[in-house]
Amino acid sequence: MDNNISVEASATTKTSSGGAKRSSFSGKIGFVLAAAGSAVGLGNIWRFPYLAAKYGGGIFLLVYIILSVTFGFSLMIAEIAIGRKTQQSPIGAYRALDKRFGFVGVLASIVPLLILPYYSVIGGWVTKYAFGFVTGEMSNMASSSYFGDYISGVWQPIFWFALFMGATALIVLFGVQKGVEKVSKIMMPVLVVLMVFIIVYTFVTTDNIWDGIVYYIKPDFSKFTYMTFVSALGQLFYSMSLAMGIMITFGSYMKKEISIEKSTHQIEIFDTGIAFLAGLMIIPACIAYDPSQLTKGPGLMFGVLPKVFDNMFGGAFIGAMFFIMVLLAALTSSISLMETVVSTIQDKWKLGRKISCLIVFGTSILLGLLSCLGYSVWSEVLFFGKFAFLDFFDFLTNSVMMPIIALITCILISFFIKPSTIIEEVSLSGKFKQKTLFSVMIKYITPVCLVVVLVFAILEGVGVITV
Ligand code: PFF
Repeated sequence: MDNNISVEASATTKTSSGGAKRSSFSGKIGFVLAAAGSAVGLGNIWRFPYLAAKYGGGIFLLVYIILSVTFGFSLMIAEIAIGRKTQQSPIGAYRALDKRFGFVGVLASIVPLLILPYYSVIGGWVTKYAFGFVTGEMSNMASSSYFGDYISGVWQPIFWFALFMGATALIVLFGVQKGVEKVSKIMMPVLVVLMVFIIVYTFVTTDNIWDGIVYYIKPDFSKFTYMTFVSALGQLFYSMSLAMGIMITFGSYMKKEISIEKSTHQIEIFDTGIAFLAGLMIIPACIAYDPSQLTKGPGLMFGVLPKVFDNMFGGAFIGAMFFIMVLLAALTSSISLMETVVSTIQDKWKLGRKISCLIVFGTSILLGLLSCLGYSVWSEVLFFGKFAFLDFFDFLTNSVMMPIIALITCILISFFIKPSTIIEEVSLSGKFKQKTLFSVMIKYITPVCLVVVLVFAILEGVGVITV
């Protein structure tokens, strides 16, 4: 039985008017795995640890977990239920709920288009590291200046970015996601085992590891700033693939008898669990080997892990395995990002698959070049005086657009279609246990927090306030 129907397999049969001949995930495992395959990616392994390191360690972790079981839970339930109820992709889904809200679907569909290019730039970094480990360049890569030198180059980053983007596009074009998802079924457990192994190994063999563990696990309330909250929330959207139409699309392929509530919990636990492990793998080692990296941001994983592997018995092999796993996790995510954009374009402009792929590929290469060269040729271009291109796209999508989309979605649910519409949909497959939490979150807490987050993020972005 193929219970792992891919987004692509399903997307090819979908129509923007909804309904007709829409395929579905044949089982709960299929749904959870496909959603988790999209959710688990660079966000968990690369982005979460550097944000946690930068914004307070333990306190970031605590805020993130609380947000995940409240905000994340409510928004994910809402999106999956909207998808399943309307049986449509985001643009049609919002319009079906209320004609005046069609623009939210459009906005949500633009987000993956903006994320895909810079996601692929980082995918390129990972590809380069995987290749470097396989070809015995580990000791080189473990030197402190390696990553900085690499991203300030021109042709190398472009080459690896184009390679990653090209691989993504080819898989989407030929529709071989099914094969890729089979790989991801094996890859996820291997990734987890590898991460646990690396964690245990570093803990046992590294001096002074304890300080870093405490920094990561123990909340220090004096380190709490509004940026802890803003970045944790942005990360939540990113990591759980929320506020970009993805979960709506997934929901539209979900059968009525499968429990939305249980599936949501599983995706949430899986996604947060992997992020937690990634932090545990990277942050204590960073503090032990090179604390100056802690606030560096995007380069954290690339700066710290090669050092860990270089000091490890058999590190070249473990390191190669690790970067290959991360590469596969990144690919499953970039494929689902691209697939979403391609199917939106196909639906919207009634274009063929090939031409839609080509348009998305071309646009992504152009936009990605900005992010790619933003650390070298165009390093003097800084948005609001501090964001290089890549960081700017990241800020724009995660801290501005996604909170806006989530906010309007809450307003739509609270005042127009009412939470009961979502509750009814979720209840189709059994009792909705946390419906009170859901209603309170969607109606009151989430919108208020989102407004606060938006205001702070924008003020911080334009430099009116600083962390
Ligand atoms: N959630 C993914 C991650 O954490 O890496 C990022 C992502 C992948 C977002 C796929 C959206 C998506 F469609």
